[in-house]
Amino acid sequence: MNNTLSQAVLSATKYLATPPLVQSYGRLVRVNGMTLTAVGGQFLMAKKYQVEGIDGAWNDAQVIGFDDSKAFLMLLNKADGLYAGARVRAVAESQMVKVDSSLLGRVIDAQMQPIDDLGALVKAPLGSDCILKKQASLNPLQRKGVSEPLDVGVRTINGLFTVGKGQRLGLFAGSGVGKSKLLAMMTRFTSADVVIVALVGERGWEVKEFIEQSLGPEGLKKAIVIASPADDSPLLRAKAAELSHQLAAFYRDQNLNVLLLMDSLTRYAQAQREIGLAVGELPVAKGYPPSVFSKLTQLVESSGNSERSHGSMTAIYTVLAEGDDQQDPIADNARAILDGHIVLDRSLAEKGHYPAINIGASISRVMPNIVSAEQLAFCYKLKKLYSRYLQVHELIPLGAYQAGKDTELDLAVQLYPEIESFLCQALSEKADFEVTQQKLSQLIGKHRA
Ligand SMILES: Nc1ncnc2c1ncn2[C@@H]1O[C@H](COP(=O)(O)OP(=O)(O)O)[C@@H](O)[C@H]1O
Ligand SMILES: [Mg+2]
Repeated sequence: MNNTLSQAVLSATKYLATPPLVQSYGRLVRVNGMTLTAVGGQFLMAKKYQVEGIDGAWNDAQVIGFDDSKAFLMLLNKADGLYAGARVRAVAESQMVKVDSSLLGRVIDAQMQPIDDLGALVKAPLGSDCILKKQASLNPLQRKGVSEPLDVGVRTINGLFTVGKGQRLGLFAGSGVGKSKLLAMMTRFTSADVVIVALVGERGWEVKEFIEQSLGPEGLKKAIVIASPADDSPLLRAKAAELSHQLAAFYRDQNLNVLLLMDSLTRYAQAQREIGLAVGELPVAKGYPPSVFSKLTQLVESSGNSERSHGSMTAIYTVLAEGDDQQDPIADNARAILDGHIVLDRSLAEKGHYPAINIGASISRVMPNIVSAEQLAFCYKLKKLYSRYLQVHELIPLGAYQAGKDTELDLAVQLYPEIESFLCQALSEKADFEVTQQKLSQLIGKHRA
């Protein structure tokens, strides 16, 4: 009896979360855009505070750094009526949202507030385990390898760039080349149990279009969308990305197969750049301060498989990369920390070839370990034939290509229409993994030698 009582007291105490650190107030001494400087009081890194406005309303802010006795805070929302000497107080975290299947189908913001019209989210009962906790980063020895394919429902990817459960892939493209449509197709067609979609730094109308048109009610059913559009404070944009990873890891640890789609990693880096510059870090690469690169690595490293769970957490990040710009430090860094990349090509999109995947420039580093030797051989053969065709495709309309001199080239020209129809896929068409393998085998199997 006593034991039960003490357990109940313990869990109730835990549930009370962090009480305000001290009951004293700090004072606002400087406002510089979204960045505030406060003195006095006790400030704790990454904690939430509130700053009083002249109208008596309290505005949310978060500590982002210190300098001696000065604390730097960033506002979470635009604030009016701030004044020199305004009071700054610590606030306790609000009651936690319950994380379970009731969150599926919901659209939330970076602070886990619903932004759809489906009502309030369910709060976690006292002492519940159904709450998000700060994830300890995965110990390298507790990481589980990638050994099984994940069906993403897109033929070119399933067939030629097979994604493994637990893999982290980049989707590199400029704007308007079809990233969002491709992510929506994967959300609707994947065999994953849960899809977490993070829309970070998109314009507001893009968020609405993605949810209402590209995903639709069907696509949303097993998904949770976390949206933080471009006009949100950089803190919220960064939080949205981190929240999506926490949620995905939570479901993974419930032994589910999770697919995390984040659009975009570049906008997350830009949000971190704004935060870093606001605390006085020096820019080192194209305006990015050094902390951005470690934040990127931390974020990406928090996805993947864990030995503690039978589930998996696969992540696909879009990265803005215009044309052949190899100088972009974020794209460069992303290439180094991800286990593969899919490159979308504007010239293909301009021809109406969707998804506009450049099969010569894309690679899935885990594919050789997770598909059959046969599929791998078919994949290499198809890529080879496609690239051979590209060598002569401009000669064909001029009549300058003559068949009969090179059997492989002739085969490439002969098979091209079928290869192209394999690579193209309508937005509404689902291409599951087995059917893709059969198609690949029908297309290439007889010409394999
Ligand atoms: N699979 C597709 N089928 C047909 N049209 C597409 C497809 N993917 C993209 N598009 C066209 O390209 C436009 C931009 O696509 P979108 O996914 O919004 O690009 P991004 O997210 O890269 O900016 C779409 O509005 C649509 O007209
Ligand atoms: Mg988009």
